[in-house]
Amino acid sequence: MDSVECPRGCREPSNTKEDTVKDDFTPSKIGTKDYWDDAYQRELQTFKDIGDVGEIWFGEESMARVLRWMERERIPENAAILDIGTGNGVLLVELAKSGYTNLTGIDYSAASVELARSILQTENISNVEVKEVDFLNCPGELSCFDLCIDKGTFDAISLNPDNTEEGKACYVQALRGVLKEDGLFVITTCNWTKEQLLQMFCQGFGFVNELPTPRFQFGGKTGNSVTAIILKRLH
Ligand SMILES: C[S@@+](CC[C@H](N)C(=O)[O-])C[C@H]1O[C@@H](n2cnc3c(N)ncnc32)[C@H](O)[C@@H]1O
Repeated sequence: MDSVECPRGCREPSNTKEDTVKDDFTPSKIGTKDYWDDAYQRELQTFKDIGDVGEIWFGEESMARVLRWMERERIPENAAILDIGTGNGVLLVELAKSGYTNLTGIDYSAASVELARSILQTENISNVEVKEVDFLNCPGELSCFDLCIDKGTFDAISLNPDNTEEGKACYVQALRGVLKEDGLFVITTCNWTKEQLLQMFCQGFGFVNELPTPRFQFGGKTGNSVTAIILKRLH
């Protein structure tokens, strides 16, 4: 499998070498819908051909980390949970297998939605809703979630060459709209540090916790390649 350097240096899985993101925060085709439509059409075909579910962004541990936190926090099994930009929906599969019963996944790529539905069906999981929705343009379509999860989607939106700043602001506003008051948001990102996230989500959100992620050392400094934090929607 080929890999590309993620903007802040973590290794990201990818299908082709041209996908390489070279500079910090350089807008990239990885931030476009065309990119994801192509990627998931290929992954859907591969799934149909050989049953491979495709890339799990940030690896299996990124899902286990979120699930461990949910268990520690005693998130109720019937909590309304939204996976924003679900991709292949494998996180939804893991959540369902862990006993969560009120799960919704959304993605703006029709091929991703078809892939996620196919994988859920193969796993005999029938009570998960997967919808084709553009998170940045869904006023009123989604609401009252107890927990929203984002793994790599805010990263993708941050890299959109057309409307990077607008996209980020729109995302924060949309998140406020879909979460209940006191609802929680877990984000895993390789583009943004905790401090940057706290700045971007300062309007209407409060910091709850940071989840430990692998650390690396370079030039005498220690840093994280992936950041995972929990925010709460304030009143
Ligand atoms: C890096 S992938 C992560 C996929 C999945 N969360 C995972 O962890 O495997 C980013 C996902 O965000 C989706 N996405 C990007 N912008 C979106 C938007 N505005 N609305 C809904 N989904 C979006 C893409 O189609 C893609 O599935």
